[in-house]
Amino acid sequence: MARFEKDFLLGAATAAHQVEGNNTNSDNWVQEQMAHSSFTEPSGNACDHYNRFAEDIALMAKAGLNAYRFSIEWARIEPEEGVFDEKETAHYRDVIRCCKDNGLEPIVTLHHFTSPVWLIRKGGWEADTTPTDFARYARYIAEQYGSELQYICTLNEANMGIQIAVVAQQIFQAMVAAGKVQVGVNLEDLMKGNPLLAQENMAVFGTDRPAVFVSPRTPHGDEIVMQAHAAARKAIREAAPHIKVGWTLSLHDVQAVPGGEAKAVEEWDQEFSHYLPVMADDDFLGVQNYSRTLIGPNGSLPVPDGAEITQMEYEYYPEGLAHVLRRVAKDFHGDLIVTENGIATADDSRRAAFIDTATQGVADCIADGLPVKGYFYWSLLDNFEWQKGYAMTFGLVGVNRETQQRQPKASLSFLGTLR
Ligand code: BGC
Repeated sequence: MARFEKDFLLGAATAAHQVEGNNTNSDNWVQEQMAHSSFTEPSGNACDHYNRFAEDIALMAKAGLNAYRFSIEWARIEPEEGVFDEKETAHYRDVIRCCKDNGLEPIVTLHHFTSPVWLIRKGGWEADTTPTDFARYARYIAEQYGSELQYICTLNEANMGIQIAVVAQQIFQAMVAAGKVQVGVNLEDLMKGNPLLAQENMAVFGTDRPAVFVSPRTPHGDEIVMQAHAAARKAIREAAPHIKVGWTLSLHDVQAVPGGEAKAVEEWDQEFSHYLPVMADDDFLGVQNYSRTLIGPNGSLPVPDGAEITQMEYEYYPEGLAHVLRRVAKDFHGDLIVTENGIATADDSRRAAFIDTATQGVADCIADGLPVKGYFYWSLLDNFEWQKGYAMTFGLVGVNRETQQRQPKASLSFLGTLR
């Protein structure tokens, strides 16, 4: 069992849209309501974390955790372009204060997949205006809360749109089975395309293919994402120079089988290496790993026969986290924070076992001199797993969908004993 120093950031992570409920000004909310939506169900009240954050934060503190990674919802803070909402600004001030009162370090993410509807109407994550819009919001957050924060993640999984584009392409070519991207997206639906959904998108966003953050991204969109990160980092540093800034990446443990070596290098470059120039000035990298991907000569291979499978249909492979940390540390020289690592399972003993192996890997990396400063389990709560709805249970804490009652699991106490 791993043991971390007292100042190691040990916590859990959530994202606003997945837990708060009624995030009505966001692109996701609108897409969930569409008659021909690809979402299996709408987010609705989610976990009502917007109202119950104090109870949830207290649960983490009671278990022994000392940090909480959560996201601020841009669509709440800036529901209309250039208009900042004071009530919502006060809400997140309360959340930050509550973390501190409970002895938890707040690690804030500015963007976790969801965007204001107005941004998507302007062209979203393919538009040249987005970096400026994102930096304005980032500056506002740094000005409002900067004195209370030590860490800001600009974008969650900046590479997700590229990963989705790659897998969508592979599905298109019938090379792999769906379920490989590290997030709950119904890729087959996405690829089939639905003319009725396209009409609904046209009515709301003015385009049949809205460039939301988790759309298949073009190389131009990838540039926009990098520019948005750099612009936000600059704005944050101008407003609050003491804050450590980074972004997070979805990183598979990419492993080549014989013959797949060249393809595996290509895959890793798309997922990680080509971002090194824009990350060179970051203080830290948020590493997010859930499993491994085996690569053959033509790309991703199915999960090996007989392997244990999680609810997300990827392989149970907690060893992947340490492999990824070691790999990124060769090229990225800032601090590393595991901003997400977790498993969707109904069997909480497998969750505790997963955490045990993964965190032991982290402890070994630290013993070998890697600058790993924190570990955040995904997720604190059983929550809204995007297009896959509420069926995926990643949480350290169960949530009764009727009553919203919290049910802390043994894995929460286990995580808390590691420091
Ligand atoms: C995302 C989360 C998601 C988790 C589990 C990550 O890709 O950041 O929003 O819920 O994976 O799929």
